[in-house]
Amino acid sequence: MNREAARTRIESLRTTLLHHNRRYYQMDDPEITDADYDLLLRELNDLELEFPDLITPDSPTQRVGAPPLEKFGAVTHRTPMLSLANAFSGEEIREFDRRCRRFLGSDDPIHYVVEPKLDGLAVNLLYEYGRLTVGSTRGDGTVGEDVTLNLRTIPAIPLSVPRMEDPPPPPGGGMAAVPERIEIRGEVCMEREAFRNLNIRRTEQGAPPFANPRNAAAGSLRQLDSRITARRPLTMFCYAIATAEGVAFRTHEAVLRTLAAWGFQVNPLIRPAVDIEECIHYYHQIGQMRDKLPYEIDGIVIKVNDLLLQERLGAVSRSPRWAVACKFAAVRERTVIDDIVVQVGRTGVLTPVAVMRAVRVGGVMVSRATLHNEDEIRKKDIRIGDTVMIQRAGDVIPEVVEVVQTARIGSEKPFVMPETCPECGSRVVRMEGEVAHRCIGMACPAQIREHIAHFASRGALDIDGLGDKVVAQLVTNGLIHDPADLFFLTKEKLLGLERMAEKSASNLLEAIGRAKSPPLDRLIFALGIRHIGEQTAKRLAQACGKLDALMAATSEELQTVRDIGPEVAASIVGFFREAANLQVIQKLRSAGITPMETARLQAAPLAGKTFVFTGTLSRMGRNEAKALVESMGGAVGSAVTKTTNYVVAGEAAGSKIEKARQQGIAILDEAAFLALTGIKVVPCNS
Ligand code: IVH
Repeated sequence: MNREAARTRIESLRTTLLHHNRRYYQMDDPEITDADYDLLLRELNDLELEFPDLITPDSPTQRVGAPPLEKFGAVTHRTPMLSLANAFSGEEIREFDRRCRRFLGSDDPIHYVVEPKLDGLAVNLLYEYGRLTVGSTRGDGTVGEDVTLNLRTIPAIPLSVPRMEDPPPPPGGGMAAVPERIEIRGEVCMEREAFRNLNIRRTEQGAPPFANPRNAAAGSLRQLDSRITARRPLTMFCYAIATAEGVAFRTHEAVLRTLAAWGFQVNPLIRPAVDIEECIHYYHQIGQMRDKLPYEIDGIVIKVNDLLLQERLGAVSRSPRWAVACKFAAVRERTVIDDIVVQVGRTGVLTPVAVMRAVRVGGVMVSRATLHNEDEIRKKDIRIGDTVMIQRAGDVIPEVVEVVQTARIGSEKPFVMPETCPECGSRVVRMEGEVAHRCIGMACPAQIREHIAHFASRGALDIDGLGDKVVAQLVTNGLIHDPADLFFLTKEKLLGLERMAEKSASNLLEAIGRAKSPPLDRLIFALGIRHIGEQTAKRLAQACGKLDALMAATSEELQTVRDIGPEVAASIVGFFREAANLQVIQKLRSAGITPMETARLQAAPLAGKTFVFTGTLSRMGRNEAKALVESMGGAVGSAVTKTTNYVVAGEAAGSKIEKARQQGIAILDEAAFLALTGIKVVPCNS
């Protein structure tokens, strides 16, 4: 075949294959057998081998994977990938609806879209000029891993989408033109049958089976060698467009329709609902179907359909107000508690843990469950030897729900909290007002271990090769006593340890060396200050910019940072007052640890301003207006006082206006208020 003929045939084969992909993934109605599909694909492959310059990155042959990577790159999401608030019952779902309406200041029923909540992992696909250019995992919601090569191997993911200048869609397709840059979100998962077959193959090959389809999907997607991913039966359902430059949608339904028209797989069970009762009905209906579906779901997601309303509702912390995940009741299993052991955590808290006969709960083998604290054990009257019901909901750590009293035989032994620490023998105390027992030993190896393991963990300094076992070995051998000691380790010291070879020692030292300039927020998180999780650490880094500024901040200053109240502020101030902590920080500095500075967030435009509302606003509800002011750093008061800066007068404003006038406080009408916030508010029913 000559080159021109090959080009024509290649193009025709690609169009045909694309068509059959759509029949298979979008319409669930294939027109040809898998074998015939493979024949066409092989023909295309052969032609491309003969004329390699005719290969394009979006050819259906380009899904076989590429040579392995050393490490995944990091991708900062253009729009953060949020998580969802949970509801567990019809009543909690109604409460979500009431919250939305209260916030919007409206009694009208809200139209929703109900979707199955797929139990896989969320990914983001970036298409630029119609081509899939970057695919990433959710990561911490802000930064994910670049798994583009792996995602490209998943047949349900289009490698390209038709561009504006492409020919119009078939009649009735209703396809919107694809903008230059779009980001598509969805869930990568593995169907149950594919998962079973994969595990059969793995067992035959002597590889450990995956615990559940979700783990299998995650493990497959996070392969450095995309050729392995290409052999794993992954699929993807899309449920959102995060960024779409130049296109506007009015409803979530329109988004989903467009996704399907562009060639993405959209879950066929998604339904619109005219009010919350219809959503609840559908929640029960999908719950009934759950076990019969080809893929695992752990609930449904209810989303406000109108995108303007979604925008007005906005987000709190890390979850949108306009959506809720309604989880199905957890899967329960019965087992026996063989022992209750005590673990000592980073802050010296002793946690009783049930050691149980292993059982499979919702697809995962479980043999340990936290019992939280002594009070909890007393309340549930849990004894060693008891038969118990345990449950696991979604990703949540398994818990003991109740004791099967009728299975008691009399030889069960009550649990007693030890009076001395099982790790260091120091006294164990229970502080007033706390449920926890703590070991007071300053040199408790368990606390030191946990503290250092946390310092090196993924969300913290992310030091490769410094897992729990190695940390324990280093602490037990007296090589490290605090996190800063890590940076003074030498090869000679490491080689003295059991099972530590030359290669692993230099790998570890290299990994430690790489952690010397962490982003500020990770270092703050790594310090292990009580109550400071990854999210709060980020906020602190953005607010302070430098470690010195954080160390010098007063409790009042800290409380101006979003989500930080008196307790958290006190914990931070207390931490930096402690001589031992300051010593560790000093040691970190002398080891050359220099956190990268964080760009400080611009001061909030309404910071220090207090607003009082009176009368009814026409464009938004009271709660919405309050959230708007607070999101810009301002505060809202209920009465006009000396500290009030503005009184916002809506329709039928009351006596507050008079009071404001008397005190010479600025009075704004609704339009002036909106102008001040600089936010354009669009009426919801346009
Ligand atoms: S919407 C801001 N829709 O659930 C809303 N999420 O807890 C973002 N998930 O990370 C998600 N099915 O991994 C949405 N139909 C669905 C979903 C879904 C599964 C997962 C997703 C997300 C998590 C949120």
